[in-house]
Amino acid sequence: MSAPLIQLVDIPQRGDARGQISVAEIGGALPFVVRRVYWIHGTNPGVSRGFHAHKKLRQLCVCVAGSVRFSLFDGWREESVVLDSSAKGLLTVSGLWREMHDFSPDCVLMVLADAEYDEADYIRDRAEFIKHVHSS
Ligand code: TYD
Repeated sequence: MSAPLIQLVDIPQRGDARGQISVAEIGGALPFVVRRVYWIHGTNPGVSRGFHAHKKLRQLCVCVAGSVRFSLFDGWREESVVLDSSAKGLLTVSGLWREMHDFSPDCVLMVLADAEYDEADYIRDRAEFIKHVHSS
C-alpha cells in the first residue's frame, strides 16, 4: 500500500485558564531539526501559492491563525486538506507537488523547515516534477 499524502502531526497544546501555548519540539511534534522558519500572511484575496515541489526539503506547516487549503500531488494521486488549527501540523516531504489555496484574510501559515532556503532544491514546473517522480 502506498504512503498517505496527507501526514498530519498532533501538536500538543499546553493551555490553561490564561489561554493556549502550542509546542513543537524534537521528541514530540517535530520529526527533524529546524534550520529555518518562515510564515506566510497578509495573502491577498483569491491568491494561491506554492506550485512547486522540493527535491530534499522537509517542512512542517502549521496554520496558527485563520485557514488555508493544501493540495498535495505525488505524481499519481492528489489529496487536499484544510488547515485551520494550531494543534495540527502538515508534514510535507520531498517528492510532493504542493499548492496552497483558499487563504482566509487572517491566515498566518508558519512553516518549519529542515534546511535553509535553496532555490536549487525547488522544482517549479509541474511537467518537470511529474517526469522527476516517474523516473526515480
Ligand atoms: P516562494 O517559495 O516562491 O513562495 P511560495 O512557493 O510559498 O508561493 O517564495 C517567494 C519569494 O520569497 C521568492 O522570491 C523566494 C523568497 N523566499 C526566501 O528568500 N526565503 C525563503 O525561505 C522562502 C520560503 C522564500
